[in-house]
Amino acid sequence: MKFFIDTANLEDIAEAQALGVLDGVTTNPSLMAKEGITGEDNIINHYKKICDIVEGDVSAEVISTDFEGMVKEGEALAALHPQIVVKLPLIADGIKACKYFSDKGIRTNVTLVFSAGQALLAAKAGATYVSPFLGRLDDISTDGLNLIAEIRQIYDNYGFNTQILAASIRHTMHVIDCAKIGSDVMTGPLSSIKGLLKHPLTDIGLAKFLEDYKKGNS
Ligand code: E4P
Repeated sequence: MKFFIDTANLEDIAEAQALGVLDGVTTNPSLMAKEGITGEDNIINHYKKICDIVEGDVSAEVISTDFEGMVKEGEALAALHPQIVVKLPLIADGIKACKYFSDKGIRTNVTLVFSAGQALLAAKAGATYVSPFLGRLDDISTDGLNLIAEIRQIYDNYGFNTQILAASIRHTMHVIDCAKIGSDVMTGPLSSIKGLLKHPLTDIGLAKFLEDYKKGNS
């Protein structure tokens, strides 16, 4: 299972990268705005900085909602760095653009996916990644994990190569449950990755080992 971090915060990205388990980064316009990154030039520079920190895929989202605009923006983003994956919204023009990029060998992440039917369309259009938003479904009392399981079954039935990128992850249990279902990738905040480290018995056990070492060597 690949671990992506879902943020535009360079410190968090660097911390996850230093941990040695990071496979990539996802961003979106809201995450950029949260970091105060506004304006085309600043956003482009920020993507370059992210690519300098991580070794894996970096999703960069288009703002256009029409096919021509998405193609223009996506081509410019893909040309920025080999690690860039063009992130497209799941609307009709986004699917058309996904097929266009797929035919050209440019990698895509189809985002804002909330149903199995949408995920099937993204796979048919040759998406590299599909991003079902599990946390946002949970927020409205709908089982987000069930969507991940449905997509897994559909993709396995037909051998689609599109990777399931479980997005809108909120906590460590989402990560673990997605791993159990067989999601190819998860993207979440730094806390969802670091949370996996925690177990009180690890802390207690380590303290005891160190205490016993000191006793034996004093
Ligand atoms: C996915 O790529 C999105 O950036 C993200 O996971 C959305 O998460 P949120 O629902 O926490 O905003």
